Amino acid sequence: MVRALCFASIDLGTGNQKLSDFDAARNELDEAFFDSILAGWWRKITKDKSFLASQNGQLLFLYPLMTKFAENTAMSIHKKEVKKVKKVTTHQLRAMKDRNEKIAMLTAYDFSMTRILDAAGIDILLVGDSASNVMAGHETTLPITLEQMIYHASSVVRAVDRALVVVDLPFGTYQGNSLKALNSAIRIMKESGAHAVKLEGGREVADAIERIQKAGVPVMGHLGLIPQSIYKFGTYTVRAKEEAEATRLLEDAKLLEELGCFAIVLEKIPAKLAKQVSESVGIPIIGIGAGPHVDGQVLVVHDMLGITYEFKPRFLRQYLNLYEEIKGAVTNYIADVKSEDFPNDKEQY
Ligand code: KIV
Repeated sequence: MVRALCFASIDLGTGNQKLSDFDAARNELDEAFFDSILAGWWRKITKDKSFLASQNGQLLFLYPLMTKFAENTAMSIHKKEVKKVKKVTTHQLRAMKDRNEKIAMLTAYDFSMTRILDAAGIDILLVGDSASNVMAGHETTLPITLEQMIYHASSVVRAVDRALVVVDLPFGTYQGNSLKALNSAIRIMKESGAHAVKLEGGREVADAIERIQKAGVPVMGHLGLIPQSIYKFGTYTVRAKEEAEATRLLEDAKLLEELGCFAIVLEKIPAKLAKQVSESVGIPIIGIGAGPHVDGQVLVVHDMLGITYEFKPRFLRQYLNLYEEIKGAVTNYIADVKSEDFPNDKEQY
């Protein structure tokens, strides 16, 4: 919160005025002097909400831009700035496909990580039922509940300024009963503030997709390897390698487009088939393990950041090894605490 201070100075000799941020000001001034201003700033703020001091012939003003002072608490407080950003919409995704601009999508489950992903410019954030694996430690996606998905989704929505937030309908909340599917989708939209839902399957969930769509809720489809049916498939290997399954998948993709889905995830199918699907429908096809000839890519964020170190399928590109990075940092912290190196003189009040 200290960083929300804005710093202004007027040079008394030249009359030149300058506005700079907290870090720039700290670099420019004698650090101890700056810290002493900060230490007393809250008490000394005058009615016009500025603090005045002088050093080396300069008049200094510190403007508090926020009302709470985070240093008063042991927790970190997130204050959302109001940013003017152009939000990603389902229509824009379609336009991106039309102009051949690839769509980048990642999963997200919590507020803090989502802020980073959104700030980096991700187009779609999927609150995936993979939360069941990476957040809750279950072996499959089946156990996660609608309430738990809503909890994750609301945390993500609170952090997002730009990305389109899509939420998975969890297992057992839509299959075989289109009214139940509609109610589940409505609960997600109402209680989390998300922008769309995703559900797994083709013709067998057509009724559910139609009914949800009619209520004005955008639906993303998911074909190929559909993890909620893992006990039917028996394995997580590549799907639709045989012609019959490939033909059925292509027909299902066309049906999902007809039903009004705004996009489809294709998971773990041959790249050639994914290309054929992408060329056969007008809506964006987002691949995971489906090769490069689709309209966008999605990965589970914990996998691409190397947090889930034991999961390394061929399609995964790991951009960081956070498992090792975090483990190293925590090992250092433990050593510092045990050796009484932390906290030092400056890290106390
Ligand atoms: O739940 C999930 O993370 C997903 C992605 C793998 C697409 O459905």
